[in-house]
Amino acid sequence: MMNNRNIRWGVIGCGDVSHRFMQGLLNVQNSELISVWSRRPEQTESFVNTHGGNACGSFEELLASDIDAVYIATLPDSHAFYSIAALKAGKHVLCEKPSAVNSSQLEEILETALAQKLLFMEAMKSPFFPLYRQLKEHIRTDSIGDIGYVRAGSSVVGLRSDHPNFSLDLAGGSLMGIGIYEAFLALDWLGETKNVQAMGKLGQTGIDVLSIFQTEHENGYGQFYTGFEVHGKGDALICGTLGNITIHKNWWNPNRATIDYFDGRVIELDIPFTTGGFNYEIDHFCDLIRNNAMESPIISHNMSRGMISMIDKARAAIGLRFKGE
Ligand SMILES: NC(=O)c1ccc[n+]([C@@H]2O[C@H](COP(=O)([O-])OP(=O)(O)OC[C@H]3O[C@@H](n4cnc5c(N)ncnc54)[C@H](OP(=O)(O)O)[C@@H]3O)[C@@H](O)[C@H]2O)c1
Repeated sequence: MMNNRNIRWGVIGCGDVSHRFMQGLLNVQNSELISVWSRRPEQTESFVNTHGGNACGSFEELLASDIDAVYIATLPDSHAFYSIAALKAGKHVLCEKPSAVNSSQLEEILETALAQKLLFMEAMKSPFFPLYRQLKEHIRTDSIGDIGYVRAGSSVVGLRSDHPNFSLDLAGGSLMGIGIYEAFLALDWLGETKNVQAMGKLGQTGIDVLSIFQTEHENGYGQFYTGFEVHGKGDALICGTLGNITIHKNWWNPNRATIDYFDGRVIELDIPFTTGGFNYEIDHFCDLIRNNAMESPIISHNMSRGMISMIDKARAAIGLRFKGE
């Protein structure tokens, strides 16, 4: 019999992304918002007025509430703190990307998850979108050959000057905010990383406002850009010996791809996503809990290790260090 156990959620941090998360959660069957905490009570109140749930007066109150899992949507500098505390309190954790400031913080989180025998997953949503899944399925039966090259990039202009992406103290920057998606793409299509090279420009606040990095993997090479200064494109190109794939912009919220085969065939995939797209990763995470899994086979602990390690190396190459490093 299918296990449809209801999964009860707590949300930590009530900024932009947690509203989008709620759009998803409200469209996932057998999952429910129970508790909400953000450090400004008025923000917590406004969140529960919009989405439901109980407003908690403290983080401890949220952890003590009757929930299975927490969604952590604070900024990267505090992800490790909240993840570790939640795991120690016996809660499964879905934590926004990047799940830690660096590899050593991530290891602390993963050690705690292992010791507590609880599920930890970084909220890297792209591979759960129906287009991405269908694309993988398509090339499994109609291959583009050996994949040897991936390139992708995204750079956004117009962020407000006090956006956390510009804060060095909060572990901002374009590699952390955007590059982590590209690290996922590289690892997903090219395998384990062997080498990372990077160049980048640090802006007035000390974070990288434009970075480029290239990666060598067990199966090929990747080239990527991230930034907040130029208006980038946001598509991804994946090249194999028998064809190539373009995932059209914005590839990290994928809904359209073109597969261009060497034999002349062109296949278009057009699969819209619903409710902002967070529902797919939430569904996956809830199923993992129901199946007593401690990690996702798709965004595994090793995938998170590979992503942050790539960003660590790119940051080291451009001289971007955060507090305590
Ligand atoms: N998956 C996606 O599609 C996606 C998209 C965008 C962003 N993200 C990720 O989601 C995370 C949040 O981004 P956002 O755009 O939602 O940021 P945001 O709008 O600035 O919201 C951050 C929230 O976290 C709270 N917060 C920050 N630091 C905290 C701390 N040390 N302790 C307690 N609360 C804290 C903030 O409270 P105050 O208002 O009191 O500061 C606010 O409620 C980031 O890691 C980002 O990379 C993911």
